[in-house]
Amino acid sequence: MRLFDVYPLYDITPVSAQGIELTDERGQTYLDFYGGHAVISIGHSHPHYVTRLTEQLNQMAFYSNSIKNPLQLELAEKLGAVSGCRDYQLFLCSSGAEANENALKMASFHTGKSKVIAFKNSFHGRTSAAVAATDNPKINAPLNRQQQVDFVPLNDFETFEKVIAGGDHCAVIIESIQGVGGLDEPTTEFYVFIAQKCKEHGVVLIADEVQSGFGRSGKFFAFQHHGIEPDIISMAKGMGNGFPVGGILIHEKFKPWYGQLGTTFGGNHLACVATLAVLEVLEKEELIENAAQLETYFKNRAAHISALKKVKGRGLMLGLEFDAEVGALRKNLIHNQRLFTGGSANKKLLRFLPALTITKEHIDLFFDKLIQELS
Ligand SMILES: Cc1ncc(COP(=O)(O)O)c(C=O)c1O
Repeated sequence: MRLFDVYPLYDITPVSAQGIELTDERGQTYLDFYGGHAVISIGHSHPHYVTRLTEQLNQMAFYSNSIKNPLQLELAEKLGAVSGCRDYQLFLCSSGAEANENALKMASFHTGKSKVIAFKNSFHGRTSAAVAATDNPKINAPLNRQQQVDFVPLNDFETFEKVIAGGDHCAVIIESIQGVGGLDEPTTEFYVFIAQKCKEHGVVLIADEVQSGFGRSGKFFAFQHHGIEPDIISMAKGMGNGFPVGGILIHEKFKPWYGQLGTTFGGNHLACVATLAVLEVLEKEELIENAAQLETYFKNRAAHISALKKVKGRGLMLGLEFDAEVGALRKNLIHNQRLFTGGSANKKLLRFLPALTITKEHIDLFFDKLIQELS
């Protein structure tokens, strides 16, 4: 049987990984400044993560959501404490799209309405409602186009106000920092404005923190840079450091009923332990503080590169924008400099999404190799 060929691949086969280093089948090592697309938060095969998962695997890997699982309660407690979001309830699933799908569904249950407001250049995943709220017609099948979504330009107060005044929306969904779109962000003024308008119109505000959450932006969630309080927060990627975990935080004002949401795999024993291990390491090694500090260091180093147009992003969710497309540069960085970086819908943006464990020395290495490749 052949694989369904949907991924254009780099001709590289990593077989092991440690920290921010990948090793391929020939023993060649690479520095991972891409983190498997912002997934690796505490570093590949972090010893604490490996120990926690191994112990749990030896004890019990999975049972369904029909039994008591104290690990889910422990995780909810820990997540509330580390994130500072204590007034929320936790629902666990297994991916970012599934998190957003459930967030949108909750908004619709809550309001009895079905239209959604999303933003130009957004990416929220590939399931039915999540992909409809994604600003990319190419990946929306006719089936998905049945959902009614209004796309508003980011930071356009007037258009947003006009659209939400229609009164028929259940949700506004927004990435606190656009990931796939290329690191554009709502200004604090705009985020506060949409949060206020959502309240006025009884519309549910969903912060998509799938990529920007779990410390990547230099705060636990990126919306925390703006002092707003979303109704629902979606999470995935860095949450499990590679183990497929997703979830939503649902404000206490939403009251659940049995059967309202559900999943077979979400919140299983291994997934809970993977996320607990991530939270424990984030806290113990002060990785969120590290991300915030390294943002400044990275931006200072970037200021010396004359070919650069702009530096974008926050924490360790960063990007370098050039005048020309970076596809060839990314390939050359892998093959000549042994270094992984990320791309985005903005073809001129080179993305930097390493594990939050990196150091100033790693950033120096990155810039030394980038400069070599550019000269
Ligand atoms: C902001 C955002 N939301 C949702 C998703 C979808 O997540 P997943 O691929 O886990 O379904 C992504 C994936 O890149 C994302 O960046």
